[in-house]
Amino acid sequence: MGSFFNRYYDRLMGPVERRICHPVRERLLPQIRGAVLEIGSGTGVNFPYYRQADRVAAIEPEPVMREVSAKRARQSRVPIEVIDAGAERLPFESDTFDAAVGTLVFCTIPDPKTALEEIRRVCKPGGTLVLFEHVKMDQPALGKLQDWLTPAWKRMCGGCHLNRNTLQHVEQAGFRIRRTERMYKNLFLIVEAENP
Ligand SMILES: C[S@@+](CC[C@H](N)C(=O)[O-])C[C@H]1O[C@@H](n2cnc3c(N)ncnc32)[C@H](O)[C@@H]1O
Repeated sequence: MGSFFNRYYDRLMGPVERRICHPVRERLLPQIRGAVLEIGSGTGVNFPYYRQADRVAAIEPEPVMREVSAKRARQSRVPIEVIDAGAERLPFESDTFDAAVGTLVFCTIPDPKTALEEIRRVCKPGGTLVLFEHVKMDQPALGKLQDWLTPAWKRMCGGCHLNRNTLQHVEQAGFRIRRTERMYKNLFLIVEAENP
């Protein structure tokens, strides 16, 4: 089922993409500058939104998604290299990137804490972290529902957890939070943070 999800990701996500994700990507990504790291690029859905980045290194560990990412990278306005790697072990020198971007990815990364520490390592001091994620909701009954659904959801949706507390992980990794924005009753979270 996980591989079905990966293969048909763009089609399955179509309605959510048009209604929720596209406006957020359009708001967050075009102004990102410099050397950019994208975590878990999936099918490369963010690539058309980069307009001012000097270059993007996009890591994606899943082969089917990586292949689609590589095709989209060839059509992008800015140079994008798609790399086979997981966020927990990044094949880059320390202090390499001006910005790191993750969209709908910290739900899926098996070890988000280690991943965020690694991202901080490869980001320059003063570098920016931009995330758009779905997270565990504050409302207790909804949060419990997310806990309950997660084991089955994970199996169907390529390892996606519905109940991650991504903001806490970002803070624990040592990033300084500049701005947060909650959407759809706290289901979605935008974080802009800095590597101090
Ligand atoms: C739900 S998709 C999101 C794709 C894309 N970022 C988007 O906005 O649509 C989650 C992605 O995280 C990737 N992923 C899974 N484990 C990962 C890891 N350890 N490091 C980086 N990415 C990972 C998956 O392969 C998948 O492409």
